[in-house]
Amino acid sequence: MAAKRKILIAGNWKMNGLKKDARALASGLAKKMKKTERPAFEMLICPPFPLLGLAADAIRGSGVKLGAQDCHAIERGAHTGDTSAGLLANIGCKYVIVGHSERRTDHEETDKQVRAKAGAALNAGMGAIVCIGETWAERKAGKALVVNRKQLKGSLPSGANAKNTVIAYEPVWAIGTGQVATPAQAQEVHAAIRKALIKLIGADEAAKMRILYGGSMKPGNAAELLALPDVDGGLIGGASLNVVDFWGIAAAAS
Ligand code: 13P
Repeated sequence: MAAKRKILIAGNWKMNGLKKDARALASGLAKKMKKTERPAFEMLICPPFPLLGLAADAIRGSGVKLGAQDCHAIERGAHTGDTSAGLLANIGCKYVIVGHSERRTDHEETDKQVRAKAGAALNAGMGAIVCIGETWAERKAGKALVVNRKQLKGSLPSGANAKNTVIAYEPVWAIGTGQVATPAQAQEVHAAIRKALIKLIGADEAAKMRILYGGSMKPGNAAELLALPDVDGGLIGGASLNVVDFWGIAAAAS
């Protein structure tokens, strides 16, 4: 029997919003979540660091979860401007996104660094959302599956299991472009990731591990993506910045 995986609808706010926006968005989602009896999905918001505390207050008791967009790989110390996984857990984060393609590009993060950050998130008792994805040039060259397998292998932390780790497949060419992967493209890569996971963590955990799709997911295309056999949720950027769109995506999971 196929493993039952709870859909995760995760909003990556990236570097967007001020206090008033965060308050309105987080409390708007919290209100909707509170009114939803036994939601068919888990909902997560990942605001910028300075807005985490405010968002934590706004979602308290609603079931909406809090996550961060990055963490440092080591526990504490002289790392000006960085944030430890322990502190993120301490202020209420349940997940940390690691290895987003924007961090891999902007900060030249390698698979090895991503794996270390993911490990730090697990050590702090949070879940790691490990992002992988190919560029358009890599896809055009027929290397999409190879690239994703390589990033997966290099970025997955030791001790990863279906409870503490989520994979996010985010084709770089689909992020913020409006050019969403077709259901066939998404399913092909998700299935390949799950197959690769069998080797890395064993068949049982691979069957249970959630694999999110990210890249121009909107209310209008979410239903067909979320219905795919190996798509277990979404990591959403632009459409996570307003209540109607983000809730619309979550509603497509029901
Ligand atoms: P968009 O939904 O804006 O394409 O961003 C996706 C993403 O990068 C989420 O992490």
